Order: sequence, then structure tokens, then C-alpha cells
Amino acid sequence: MPEAVDKAQEIDALFRFLAASGSALFIFVCGYVLYFALAFRRHAGTPADAVGVQIHDNNKLEFWWTLGPTVFVVLMAIFSIRIWYGIEIAPNNTLVVEALGRQWYYTFRYPNINGEVKEMHLPLGQAVTLHVSSYDVIHSFWIPAMRLKADMVPGLINTLEFTPTRPGKYEIICTEFCGTFHGEMHSGTKENPAYVYIDPPARYDAWYARMQREQVTASNAITTPSTAQLKLTGGDAKTGAKIFAQKCSACHALGPFDQRIVGPGLRGVFYDSTHPQLVDGDEATPENAAKILQNGYKGSLGQMPNQTSNGLSSKDIVNLVAYLKTLK
Ligand code: CUA
Repeated sequence: MPEAVDKAQEIDALFRFLAASGSALFIFVCGYVLYFALAFRRHAGTPADAVGVQIHDNNKLEFWWTLGPTVFVVLMAIFSIRIWYGIEIAPNNTLVVEALGRQWYYTFRYPNINGEVKEMHLPLGQAVTLHVSSYDVIHSFWIPAMRLKADMVPGLINTLEFTPTRPGKYEIICTEFCGTFHGEMHSGTKENPAYVYIDPPARYDAWYARMQREQVTASNAITTPSTAQLKLTGGDAKTGAKIFAQKCSACHALGPFDQRIVGPGLRGVFYDSTHPQLVDGDEATPENAAKILQNGYKGSLGQMPNQTSNGLSSKDIVNLVAYLKTLK
């Protein structure tokens, strides 16, 4: 496995150290288990209820078997924390790149390139700060050749620091099951390749300039949800059912109100005479349900994130409400 960045060498060194000391310890312990099993086996003529020699306390032995592992664990901690700090804490003058997960591909944001690009290119030898986050659900961003991995969590930015040291094309793998096409975030597709390219500076500059030109009309605006009342016409219940299965069913059952997972069950949400109000106290109408889907809910029943955090477009909400109407 190539070592594509500086951190990979440090992580591999730590791994070799742990593997070597772990193997040595394994052989030492298993060796003694085998040795004792043979040396102290039952000899012919020994009665079945014979009791061995009783030994209590050996201060010298106990001192060393406490001190030895303690020193070893502290050494491992120092070695690990030094590397971890290097990955987490940004030096100055780095190239800052953002990697964003989506169902089911990655996009990247660069300083002075408008919008988002679908390929990650990094210049050889230039320190990089990579901010990792997500638009919809939790993904996990892993580049094996870099030995680096960070969860992509909506609303949270995780940071990775490294300097590319070896040009090439390396796989990106999503290692958190994120829905139907999770696998495409490993193999990639023609339109959405899951690769990072480490380029010599001249080639990187050419790519960067080309992207600046191609993306010149792209918008940098991050879509914010509208809080205005949605027009609920034209919703498709079938599409809504699919979205429900994908994004809602982890927290909402299709059973009656009291069948709670995280939130209440949603069968008959608009027709339930024992629950004429929604959880926020508003009347159970499609318009008010859409309002909760847009803005989220926080109250005695817990909380539901808003439209952006749940990765729902306004069209999704219209379709979801159409689907909820069919649940009688
Ligand atoms: Cu994204 Cu799995």
C-alpha cells in the first residue's frame, strides 16, 4: 500500500511498532501457557484430587509486572498522541479544501473556485487542511493510501492535516453505511468518480485554473431552507413513501401515535381523533405538518432536526406530506 502523505509514514511506523510489540507479547504469553501445560501436567500415579504447592505474594514480580506494562502503555500513548495532534492541529499557510458527503457521492470546495467540484486534486508537497462534513446523512471519508479517515457528519466539521508526498490517483471509500448506493461511494461512477489526485504543482495549477474558468458562473450560496408556508399541490405519495423509508423510518413507525421509535408513530396523523393536534400544539393539518418538516421540532417529545439537517428539499416535503395523507 503506497504512502501518499507524510502522515501515512508516521501512522505506519506506529502500526509496525504496535504489531511488533503485540506479537512479541503474544508469543511470550502463549509460550508460557504451552510451557506450563507441559511442565506441570498430571503425572501417572498422582491422585486425582492432588493440590499443588500454594504460593502467596511475590513483591518483586508484582512490582515488575505493574511497572513494565505501565511504561509500555504510556509510551504508546505519547507516540499516538503526537501523531494525532499532527493530524488535528493546523499549521499556517495550508491549502484549505472542503470535502462534502452526499447520497451518494462527494463534492469538494476550493478557495476561489465557485461552487463545488466533483474531483479532489491536491498539489504535491503543499500542506493541506481538509475539512470534512456532510449534506445529508453520516458518511465516513477514508483514503487508504493516506491512512486517514474522518466521519462526514451533517452540521459538524472534522479536520485532517497532511502534506501529499507521492503523486498518483488514490481511492476514496465511504465506510459508513449511508443508504442504497453506499457502494458507489467506494467504486465511484462515471459521473462521480471516487478518487483523489495528487498532482505535481504545474499540473495542479492547470487543473485549478481550468476549474476556476468552468465554475465561473456557479453559485457559492449554500441553500438555506425557506420558512415560508409551502404550496402543497402536486405532491406524489409514491415518491414520498420512498423518502419516508430513507429518511424518516429510523425515528417514526408507520403504526399509531403511541408506537414510538424516537418520534411518534405517524399512521392516521391527519385523521386521529385522540390526537387532533400535532406535537407542537398546532392543528393536525397537512400545512402544519409541512411546517414541522421545514423548521424541525423541539419540545416535550424530544427533537427533530430541520429541513437542511435532514437533507430534505422543499419538493421532498411536499411529497412526504402527500404520503402522510395516505396513511389512514
Ligand atoms: Cu456514504 Cu456510505
